[in-house]
Amino acid sequence: MGEIARFFTLNTGAHMPSVGLGTWQMEPGVVGEAVVTAIKAGYRHIDCARIYRNEKEIGLALKKLFNDGVVKREELFITSKLWCDSLDPEDVAEGIESTLNDLQLDYVDLYLIHWPFQIKKGTTLSVENLIESDIPCTWRAMEKLFDSGKARAIGVSNFSTKKLEDLLRIARVLPAVNQVECHPVWQQAKLRTFCQSKGVHLSAYSPLGSPGTKWIRSNVLDNPIVIDAAEKLGKTPAQVALRWGIQMGNSVLPKSTNKSRILENLDVYDWSIPDELFAMFTTIQQVRLIRGDIFVSSHGLYKSVEELWDGEI
Ligand code: A2P
Repeated sequence: MGEIARFFTLNTGAHMPSVGLGTWQMEPGVVGEAVVTAIKAGYRHIDCARIYRNEKEIGLALKKLFNDGVVKREELFITSKLWCDSLDPEDVAEGIESTLNDLQLDYVDLYLIHWPFQIKKGTTLSVENLIESDIPCTWRAMEKLFDSGKARAIGVSNFSTKKLEDLLRIARVLPAVNQVECHPVWQQAKLRTFCQSKGVHLSAYSPLGSPGTKWIRSNVLDNPIVIDAAEKLGKTPAQVALRWGIQMGNSVLPKSTNKSRILENLDVYDWSIPDELFAMFTTIQQVRLIRGDIFVSSHGLYKSVEELWDGEI
């Protein structure tokens, strides 16, 4: 481990830094400062999305960092995501354009389809508004973004093994990444094996189990195996959870607006979890924390959580 874990090489040949700053649920007024703190601390990877409604502030922060000579655009890896109301092929270009405008960038390093389903145009995300998507059609439009250079890599998020398999069957440009929930308590064993066999990189959102989110029953940082490893290694449970992800071959996207935790979450390189402790993680009981129950109803697109995730639950 050690130095080699700082980047993962995508199927495009690009290097993706293995720790990225997550920006989901970062409020206006704090997100810009968090980005500045993170980049000054050495982060080179920021995970954004149109629906987080904070890309404008991130763009302002990036512009200032570039102007002040703190970092150059080409040193950064910036991801954003196409929201569910823009999956019609004619809306995809506009989706990335609005993100690029807000971020004040000419391109993103990675552009993802945020969810495998669509919502009716002009509506917000709720079970009544979900409609079936035509992912092959959307993917053609994503491929055009890749061809144009506005997205240097394209990929997906929240895709089950089956949905990814279906996409791979029709893709001209292979998805570089599938970004999904992944941490010691939801390890994505099946999906990870599939991704590895196809050269699709697995990127982990909620790598700490999103302990600050009220509706999530977070149980990662207080898992006994995580705590035991942390005590033995003299690290925090958060650092162990992140280092576990990197050692599994996943990039990790921890979110923090707190300076000391932003620093802590990047301090995962010059040590590793030894084999005997690492092996213990396979015994952790698995629980999907972000199940998507709100997307499921007896008269909706998905009748059950099992259907949404194609049985991976
Ligand atoms: P804060 O922003 O106050 O640091 P995830 O990335 O899994 O979604 O988790 C994000 C949540 O975890 C946020 O509530 C964040 O709070 C908290 N968090 C981030 N880093 C750490 C850490 N090193 N130790 C404990 N909690 C953390």
